[in-house]
Amino acid sequence: MIIVLDFGSQYNQLITRRIRELGVYSELHPHTITADKIQEMNVKGIIFSGGPNSVYDDNAFTCDPRIFELGLPILGICYGMQLMTHHLGGKVEKATHREYGKAMIQVKNASALFKRLPDEQVVWMSHGDLVTAPPEGFAVDATSASCPIAAMSNEAKKFYAVQFHPEVRHSVYGNDILKNFVFDVCQCKGDWTMESFIDSEVRKIRELVGDKKVLCALSGGVDSSVAAVLVHRAIGDQLTCIFVDHGLLRKGEAESVMKTFREGFQMNVIKVDAKERFLSKLKGVTDPEQKRKIIGNEFIYVFDDEAAKLEGIEFLVQGTLYTDIIESGTATAQTIKSHHNVGGLPEDMKFKLIEPLKTLFKDEVRALGTELGLPDEIVWRQPFPGPGLGIRVLGEVTEEKLEIVRESDAILREEIKKAGLDREIWQYFTVLPDIRSVGVMGDARTYDYTVGIRAVTSVDGMTADWARIPWEVLERISTRIVNEVPRVNRVVYDITSKPPATIEWE
Ligand code: XMP
Repeated sequence: MIIVLDFGSQYNQLITRRIRELGVYSELHPHTITADKIQEMNVKGIIFSGGPNSVYDDNAFTCDPRIFELGLPILGICYGMQLMTHHLGGKVEKATHREYGKAMIQVKNASALFKRLPDEQVVWMSHGDLVTAPPEGFAVDATSASCPIAAMSNEAKKFYAVQFHPEVRHSVYGNDILKNFVFDVCQCKGDWTMESFIDSEVRKIRELVGDKKVLCALSGGVDSSVAAVLVHRAIGDQLTCIFVDHGLLRKGEAESVMKTFREGFQMNVIKVDAKERFLSKLKGVTDPEQKRKIIGNEFIYVFDDEAAKLEGIEFLVQGTLYTDIIESGTATAQTIKSHHNVGGLPEDMKFKLIEPLKTLFKDEVRALGTELGLPDEIVWRQPFPGPGLGIRVLGEVTEEKLEIVRESDAILREEIKKAGLDREIWQYFTVLPDIRSVGVMGDARTYDYTVGIRAVTSVDGMTADWARIPWEVLERISTRIVNEVPRVNRVVYDITSKPPATIEWE
């Protein structure tokens, strides 16, 4: 395994991910990890990530100095390079300005890191301070116009450092540099696969849980499903899942989740039918934020009530991903919408958490789901908000309106799938604005609902563009919705990107 020490860079998990893509297992660890702890793990090499500090800051992140004496290869990236320099007696100078963006480096000394690579290459720089004198025993491997020591090494000790970010795609040979470190310097084999991840997680979960009982809030979404199946693989019937049907799910969803997990995986799933409870709480409420809060809170109460009926539960499984951790960590980000998902459980629940996906990115979770035997329908499921159709029926939520969204949404999903667009489009769904308009059907005047279609392409849901669905497909969807869904006489297509709109309408 290669471990990455976290000095606070926004790219740190990306490094572990790039290493895993090379078939070598990698984990991120806090910079406070001790040399003793590292020795207990099967570590073949260490990477120091970048970070926002200057080594001269009062509370600058540092590391256990004995790490340099473990005899393990170390690669310092950006702040990691400065920290290495500072520790080993070189000179780091405070920056007068930041260098940010692409830069050209010239390789002067082809150390193991630059083997088989061109002498000139474009890299991604993002730093303030820089190294002006390497520690004793180090050679300068590369320079750039504004950075006289862009890379350095002490090959006898297997210490390497680069001022730029090889993990970022803009560094054209960045991946090759990481490859050289991992394979040539650390002598890793590259035989890590999702299967080996499953094996090691199963082992860890068994060790942690022993013969205790575990609970999981299963939503049927990719993350909670994969987490639940993985934990089930480890401890079987010691796991109980609770699936809350809040009556705000899409057509056929509750049934399909039950079928997959109860019948397919033979898991213990308690289905709570809480439709009445949610709808009565939502009666007369029109404000989107209030609706979200009611649904979020009610979810917690329902879950709590069910959990209280079970005895001896010590652990709770959550499908937290690495990206969830970054997003919730942005303390300065403004709340645009108070997002809720099944992870939003009460703080006073005295469970210990099991978060087996917390080092993974979404596409890795999908690969893991497939490896665990989950059907494509779940693995490739589009994101679905915790408050469900409650925020797709605009204004007051009623059963009649929910039915219109459910039926029109089912038609949309069917047609998008038939057209082979389901993996291309990030999210596609229908919404019911709180308006009615005049139409004519047969010879009669109608005064009925308008259904909105929302379909967007996106990489992470943070920004999105409206999907260019072919006219013929839109036409088919529109015709079918108006013909097949009672009380609908008009269909509109939302052609706004995010920003300025959001993906959901509420
Ligand atoms: P917006 O509407 O903010 O949505 O552009 C961005 C992504 O987040 C999903 N979304 C939610 N997911 N709980 C969730 O788990 C929520 O309360 C929630 N609200 C929005 C939305 O579907 C899109 O993928």
